[in-house]
Amino acid sequence: MSASSGTAASAQASAQTSKDPWEWTEKRYKDGVFSHAIGTERERLRLLESVLDDHTRGHFQRLGLTSGHRVLEVGGGGGSVARWLAGQGAEVTVTDLDTTYLDELSEVGVQVLRHDVYTDDFPEGTFDFIHTRYVVIHLPDPEKAVARLARWLKPGGVLLLEEPSFFPIKDAPHPAYRKVMRAFRTHLESAVGTDTEWARNLPVPLAGKGLDDIGYDARFQRITGGDNEAAWWQLTLEQTRAAVVAEGLATDEDFEAAYRELADPGFHDLSLAVFTAWGRKQEN
Ligand SMILES: C[S@@+](CC[C@H](N)C(=O)[O-])C[C@H]1O[C@@H](n2cnc3c(N)ncnc32)[C@H](O)[C@@H]1O
Repeated sequence: MSASSGTAASAQASAQTSKDPWEWTEKRYKDGVFSHAIGTERERLRLLESVLDDHTRGHFQRLGLTSGHRVLEVGGGGGSVARWLAGQGAEVTVTDLDTTYLDELSEVGVQVLRHDVYTDDFPEGTFDFIHTRYVVIHLPDPEKAVARLARWLKPGGVLLLEEPSFFPIKDAPHPAYRKVMRAFRTHLESAVGTDTEWARNLPVPLAGKGLDDIGYDARFQRITGGDNEAAWWQLTLEQTRAAVVAEGLATDEDFEAAYRELADPGFHDLSLAVFTAWGRKQEN
């Protein structure tokens, strides 16, 4: 469901000032509650792909992806976007802090790199398309990451960001779901360092990065009890449950009650809001 959309020749509001509120260490994500070493993480990422990929593909197609384009997929996770891009004839590089789930993509011609978007580099002007999804909000200064990504684009290349914002869960009408989701959000902010509301400001962080033709869109992910979005949340919550309970943010009983709600086919609620923004690198 599209909440709002629009285009702007350039983002009107001024860019946010750069900040560095916490010191970046990849361990914070890589060895935390979403570590790829956790038994359910691959299935959790597969569920995420199943609810997001159609939108992602639509954005690539609308923005003019063609065979032969050199594409960077940042934080590729389970790899479905990189695999699809390769199937479109693109020359794909996929990165992640942990490439365990991506390594098999080298068999379909994808370049797989263990690469930290926050600290590792690419030469300026390398890519025709760069995409991130549910990645930059986990970094200390997402806008700094956006500036790095924009530098790696060729003139005329396209940056496409898809990042979530957590505000819809704050007022959820289902009490157990609301309580556990709020507790999860608090834990994520402190343990991983995620900025759960940064995405809401898109496309403003694209301003001042040498990008033209800036456009944006926002929509809500929805949950119906028992669907893939609900299953994704159940795995996400279960991976954080021990830490959340230990911090006193919610009880095991709260989690069990939330899981009952998420399994009930009569349950309908909002999940995250997804903000998408894109821009084209200015020609020299
Ligand atoms: C929530 S998952 C999203 C995966 C994929 N983008 C998707 O939407 O299906 C976030 C991914 O970003 C990776 N990641 C987190 N921080 C990163 C960084 N600094 N550099 C590269 N990848 C990173 C994680 O390892 C994880 O695979």
